[in-house]
Amino acid sequence: MSDQIIIFDTTLRDGEQSPGASMTLDEKVQIATLLDEMGVDVIEAGFPIASEGDFEAVSEIARQVETSVIAGLARAIPADIDRAGEAVRHARRPRIHTFVSTSPIHLEHQMKKNQDEVLEIINATVRQARNLCDDIEWSAMDATRTPLDYLAKCVEVAIRAGATTINLPDTVGYCVPAEYKAMFEYVRANVPDADKAVFSVHCHNDLGLAVANSLAGVEGGARQVECTINGLGERAGNAALEEIVMAVRTRADVLPYTTRVDTTQLTRASKLVAVASGFTVQYNKAIVGKNAFAHESGIHQDGMLKHAETYEIMRPEDVGVRATSLVMGKHSGRHAFKEKLAELGYELGGNALQEAFRRFKDLADRKKHVYDEDIEALIEDHITEDAE
Ligand code: KIV
Ligand code: ZN
Repeated sequence: MSDQIIIFDTTLRDGEQSPGASMTLDEKVQIATLLDEMGVDVIEAGFPIASEGDFEAVSEIARQVETSVIAGLARAIPADIDRAGEAVRHARRPRIHTFVSTSPIHLEHQMKKNQDEVLEIINATVRQARNLCDDIEWSAMDATRTPLDYLAKCVEVAIRAGATTINLPDTVGYCVPAEYKAMFEYVRANVPDADKAVFSVHCHNDLGLAVANSLAGVEGGARQVECTINGLGERAGNAALEEIVMAVRTRADVLPYTTRVDTTQLTRASKLVAVASGFTVQYNKAIVGKNAFAHESGIHQDGMLKHAETYEIMRPEDVGVRATSLVMGKHSGRHAFKEKLAELGYELGGNALQEAFRRFKDLADRKKHVYDEDIEALIEDHITEDAE
């Protein structure tokens, strides 16, 4: 089995399903173009039957994107599948992604169908899609709350009908990593011809486990990871693309997989999606948060000034951040303060440094953010006082 993970980005589909995150056609094309440039393998561009705007966005992205596979989502309904086929048909590499629920709770309350009826639907809809496109992804919605023997039957039918990718989503973010890994192992071991398809993870973050579950699914044999920039997505969001990619890159010793993503574009992509969706990124967000490479405490700043690996496991430039920042605040130490003064052009030693540091601490206790200008003012005032 290949060690390469296929990165499937669904920012423009599941990400846009976050209440209030709608994006314009231009914004979507811009995001898709960047995802393509940065080496994302599959871009789910939208849900063509959902609206005219979604159909137009998927068609336009299909026309413009050069390398990535362009997927359009469709329920297991003939009209949805035709519409998705029409929208992706201009792509150099089109994919139809069709899904149906498989869990007892969805079958009883939402679909009002029995298990055999759902098996027939899978067979018919995957075959219909396969007549329109060679690359077909089939998803078992709510897979993680589906009995394993029935899930395996559904997957068997989908592969026999022509699905080339099988996605087993944790739709409601309910699973824990060991369970998710075991689900993939079970299905892959119990479905004839399982190796004819690529298995895929798709994890929601309701319990904050989306990335951990995704990586566990990969350990269980999945080789496609569905994720979004900034973890944008329904409810608590989806697994964050930047976290998956950097986990694999940083922990290659225990996660022996690769991706094609140019990680130096991650910060750019994060900012673009934040502006387009209107969802600002929390300061302490892993990889792309404002504080991901910032240090304020004296002990950490001192360590960072001696060797960057004391408190950083990734290099900021590898994710597109210019440099680590040592933020000056009440927790900062003398070492960082002296470096900051040197950066601002002041050479202070002995008592002058002691006194400046005392004044700085005094200021930092009163002020939430201490800017370079504050430190300059503090030094200049002191110099002026001394001269008088
Ligand atoms: O979470 C989910 O189950 C989905 C499917 C449509 C793949 O988003
Ligand atoms: Zn989803």
